[in-house]
Amino acid sequence: MIKNNIIIALDVNTLKEEERLLNILSPHVQVFKIGIELFYSCGLKAIELVKKYDRDIFLDFKFHDIPNTVYAASKTAVRFGVFMFNVHASGGINMMQKAVEGAEEESEKLGISRPKILGVTVLTSMDSEALKKIGINKSPEGQVLNLARLAKDAGLDGAVASPEEISAIRKAIGKDFLIVTPGVRPEGSDAEDQKRVATPKEAFQRGADYIVIGRPVTKAKDPVAVIKSIVG
Ligand code: C5P
Repeated sequence: MIKNNIIIALDVNTLKEEERLLNILSPHVQVFKIGIELFYSCGLKAIELVKKYDRDIFLDFKFHDIPNTVYAASKTAVRFGVFMFNVHASGGINMMQKAVEGAEEESEKLGISRPKILGVTVLTSMDSEALKKIGINKSPEGQVLNLARLAKDAGLDGAVASPEEISAIRKAIGKDFLIVTPGVRPEGSDAEDQKRVATPKEAFQRGADYIVIGRPVTKAKDPVAVIKSIVG
């Protein structure tokens, strides 16, 4: 069975490695995430490769710039033909509104449906100590809720947030808002640099629509076995 709500992070830097992962994982997973490591290394070819496997792309570039630049970048994301992309919610409401506007205009022009746009709240690698050091004295949960509300007000489709804030976001914003959750670790695997983690099962139980999982699958000796253990 192909899982539609597990997103595999293709955090590798060669097309050969990307292809190896797509070969073994595409029979099991529908959505693959392309981030800055793979795109800066391989460019558009990395996107074309996922399309060759007829799979969907979550473009994880986390745009964070002045509204006009993000407006233009969002049009580019649409032209790449991705299923989903993201912007930093901390870029502010005007920046997020411009992301939606750019994506809407370009999708309409091309006659395709607009990709889902997510607001990145607080990186899952950050805890309250790390937030304090960048001048934010709120708890991670407080800051995530603040930014998720702003993303909703800007017209975004959802937010990226750690497993620890899923329930609070659902409660505050309701059902009509996608929650995409990285920082997911199957039972017994290493948390690495992620600070606010949970198992896939816990993340879905708390209300995540999608989970994003990278190293526990991509660096595993047997990635398919890990996927199967998550799907249960
Ligand atoms: O290897 P791991 O499972 O930690 O990968 C998580 C992926 O999710 C990475 O590609 C990382 O860039 C991404 N991500 C994250 N936290 C966010 C947004 C994206 O970990 N808030």
